[in-house]
Formats: sequence, C-alpha cells, structure tokens
Amino acid sequence: MSELLYDFGSGRSDPETFPTEALKAAAMKVLDEQSDEINNYPGSLGHLGMRQAMAQREATRESVAVDPDHLILTNGSMQAVTLTAEVLMDYPGDSVILEEFSYPGTLSAYRSLKYNMVGIKLDEGGMRIDHLEEQLHRLNSEGKLPKFIYAISTYQNPTGFVMPKARRLEMIELARKYDVPIVEDNCYADVHYEGPEEPAIYALDDDANHIYLCSLSKILAPGLRLGYILARPPMLDKILARRHDAGSNYLAAAIVAEFYKDGIGNHADVANAALKTKRDLTLYGLQEYLDDVCVWSKPVGGLFIWVRIPDDVDRQKLQELTLQRGFNYLLGSSFHYQDKDVPYLRLAFGHLNARQIEEGIPVLAQCIREARTSNEARQFDSLFMA
Ligand SMILES: Cc1ncc(COP(=O)(O)O)c(C=O)c1O
Repeated sequence: MSELLYDFGSGRSDPETFPTEALKAAAMKVLDEQSDEINNYPGSLGHLGMRQAMAQREATRESVAVDPDHLILTNGSMQAVTLTAEVLMDYPGDSVILEEFSYPGTLSAYRSLKYNMVGIKLDEGGMRIDHLEEQLHRLNSEGKLPKFIYAISTYQNPTGFVMPKARRLEMIELARKYDVPIVEDNCYADVHYEGPEEPAIYALDDDANHIYLCSLSKILAPGLRLGYILARPPMLDKILARRHDAGSNYLAAAIVAEFYKDGIGNHADVANAALKTKRDLTLYGLQEYLDDVCVWSKPVGGLFIWVRIPDDVDRQKLQELTLQRGFNYLLGSSFHYQDKDVPYLRLAFGHLNARQIEEGIPVLAQCIREARTSNEARQFDSLFMA
C-alpha cells in the first residue's frame, strides 16, 4: 500500500481541538492531590468525581436526574458493550436484536460470545419499528425472544441517522410488551451539529431493565479508554457481579473529572464547531464529485457519512485503487450483522484536516468511477435498498 494520505477509516475526533494544556494542568493537580487514591484500587464503580461529572453530563443533556452511584466507569464503552452482553446472555446461541448495520466492535463481541444476531432494517429514522415488531413477534412465536435490543439511536454508526422521539417511544412500548431490555449505546450524543436533539431512551423510560452506555472517546479522545454504563438496581448489581478486572483507570478518570469539573459544554462547543466544518467539507466534496453516481447520508451529528455506491462498482477493485492512492475508508460489509458484501462505504471525517478532505474526496470519486463497469448515471435515489 502507498502512504496513507486520506484516512477516512476510523471514527476519531479532531486532533487540533485536543486540550493538551488544560489536561496537563489537570494531571499536575490530580497527581499533587490524589496520589493516595492512585496508590489504591479504584473499586468497581470507579472515581467518584468522574462519575459525578458524567452524571452531570447526562443530566444536563437529558434533563433528568442521574445518580452517580448508578454509573459504572469502564475501559472505553467497548468494555461496556461486552460486559452487558455477557450479563444478558444465558446460553450461547441466544438472540440479540440490533440495527442491520452496526458498529463493528459490537458485532465482533457478539460474534465471539456466539449470539444469534437478528438485524433490523434501517431508514432515515434508524431502526424500522415495523420490522422490529415483525421480528419480535416471530422470535416470540418460536420461543426465542431476544435477550436484549442493542440500539445506537443517536448519530448511528455507520449511517449517522437519529431516531425521532416518537419512534423511540414505540420501541420502548415494544420492549415492554415483550419484556426485552434495551441496551442503548449513546457514545455520539454530544457530537451534535444542528437541529433539535432527541432524548435518550433511558430519559424516556425508567424501566429497570434498560442499560445505557456512553464514552469519552468521541468527545475527548479514545486513548483515554474511558466509558461508562448507567443501570438501575438490580441490573446494576448483576453487571457489577460480572466485573472481574478490579475497576478502570483511576488516573485517567481523575484527570478527565478535573478537566470537566464545570461541565463538558465549553470543550464540546469548540470540538463540535471544528467537526461540523469537516462534515460540511465532506458533504460539499461528495456533492461536487459524486452527485451523479452515489447517494449519502447528511448527518446532524456524529462522525460518519454512509455512502451508497452503484451495484456495478467492482468493490474489490475499488479497494485496490483507493489503497494505491492512499485513501482509506471502511467497507459496507464491516458493518453488516451478517458480514454481507453490500454496496456501501463509510467515511469518517473527524480526524482529517481540511486539506485532506478537499483533496481526498476527488480521489475517492475518481476511484469509484474507474471501478465501475459502466458510465451510466445512478439508478437509485434512496440510500436504502428495496
Ligand atoms: C457505537 C459505538 N459503540 C462503542 C464504541 C467503542 O468506543 P470506546 O470503547 O472507544 O468508548 C464505538 C467506537 O467507535 C462506537 O462507534
């Protein structure tokens, strides 16, 4: 492969807005003041100040009270994804319902735990409720109700879609009818650019079975490996009982708690303004160079644009061409719950600079055109296949 010039592959935030100086100051303070605690094990819930800061984050966004003692700090939200899936499984082969395109880390965890994944079709409002209902009905009549529904309802990975409140309420209703918990993965919630913000499922329903997951990776940095689970007892206790890693990184949590002691708002505003500019540049490039060939999502938050490419693109050749020219993206199949080879690709715009985006999108456009077997205009207007 040639040098990686345009890395639209991984969902990372903007490196330019990483608050190095403020974190240095926070680290010095924490090392001066909390060395006794750092010299101890952190307990299963983790650093109290960080839990309070994250409870405040949730309470401010969702306008509901959040108890810091119902919040478990984890090693990124990926640990939370895996831990909750372990807790909710009885036997290998149990079913889980999720969006038909979902986060590859989750798919990989569920595959290795041997969950039977049932994918629900998506539209611009996220998981389609008609399909969800059909699948719950089918699984119920087969005596195989899923152990839980996993949903990335806000700025979904990979599509960027947001589920409207009315649909969230319908999902909650169905979950209640079939007595199936919802695991809500909300790690992009604060990466918001414009328009109304939809409420989290946990803020709409206080069912003690639902579990909420969030992260610091998308608003600050993934290298911190900080995420968390919100759950109410007795679910909270079940999760804690499955935890065998002696807690999460206390030092990282202490530094971030100090950094966010007055709320996440100031830093989120700066980071989101930078990300929005990149989203706009990416959308502009797609419009300029691929309008006659592809269709894509226009996310109002999050880090991704989901692109549908014509069926006549040789996807293997496209990968080869892009790699030769230093362009990286993720294949549609990486997100499909059954690993199906689908005519989509995901562009993650957060980590690149403006020049890389402006130069990169024409490179992708040229590769797509060269990988096609025809010159016809696209035959579809929708992002979704019938
Ligand atoms: C939907 C979703 N959940 C969880 C994660 C894991 O994030 P982390 O473990 O860095 O918090 C990601 C990362 O991309 C994601 O997109």
